[in-house]
Amino acid sequence: MDVVKIALGKGRLEEFTVEIFQKIGIEFPELEKGSRKLIFDDESGNFRIVLVKATDVATYVENGAADIGVIGKDTLMESEADVFEVLDLGFGKCKFAVAGLSVQPINPNQKLKVASKYPNVAKAFYEKKGISVETIKLNGSVELAPLIGLSDVIVDIVETGRTLKENGLAIIEDICDISARLIVNKASFKTKTETIHPLLNKMEQELARMSV
Ligand code: PRP
Repeated sequence: MDVVKIALGKGRLEEFTVEIFQKIGIEFPELEKGSRKLIFDDESGNFRIVLVKATDVATYVENGAADIGVIGKDTLMESEADVFEVLDLGFGKCKFAVAGLSVQPINPNQKLKVASKYPNVAKAFYEKKGISVETIKLNGSVELAPLIGLSDVIVDIVETGRTLKENGLAIIEDICDISARLIVNKASFKTKTETIHPLLNKMEQELARMSV
């Protein structure tokens, strides 16, 4: 049987995913011990975790270097990767929103400037509304942009809302809810179905048990 490779972004999603695997009887002893390695095999030899940068999970899965990935819906949307999104894991909950200093009417004579770590998400959101915008890609501290005149609004993830509040910004419009998702490479979904399907079923059952 071919090994099923699982791409995990280092950090919070990794911990939760490893915990679910443990609960369904798939153990990665070395990973659980806190090793600094990047590749871990489970005890059965059927599963291999590869630890990657969270923003690279979709790239590994889309290209088939990993069969499965765990990724935030925000990062998945931004990647626009051609993969199957098969399971909502229900953790890492937050939302995408448009935020700014105040609700200003859109001036049709001026392109709205939108700063974001997620320019593709921002563009797609406004395109759907028939509004063309100028996106400005930032890598962090996005809240600064409207405060110092880099953009009119931001598109960002909001969890507690504290960062917005403490910077005098407010939500103008919600875009969508976000949580961790399980994605599968399209070819692997067929070729490794014997291992992937039972894994998905077990994970789904465990998630249902956990939410009871
Ligand atoms: C994220 C996001 C917001 C903040 C939202 O930033 O971009 O800034 O968290 O969380 P809150 O609603 O609970 O305040 P992150 O912590 O990833 O830092 P960054 O600005 O460096 O990207």
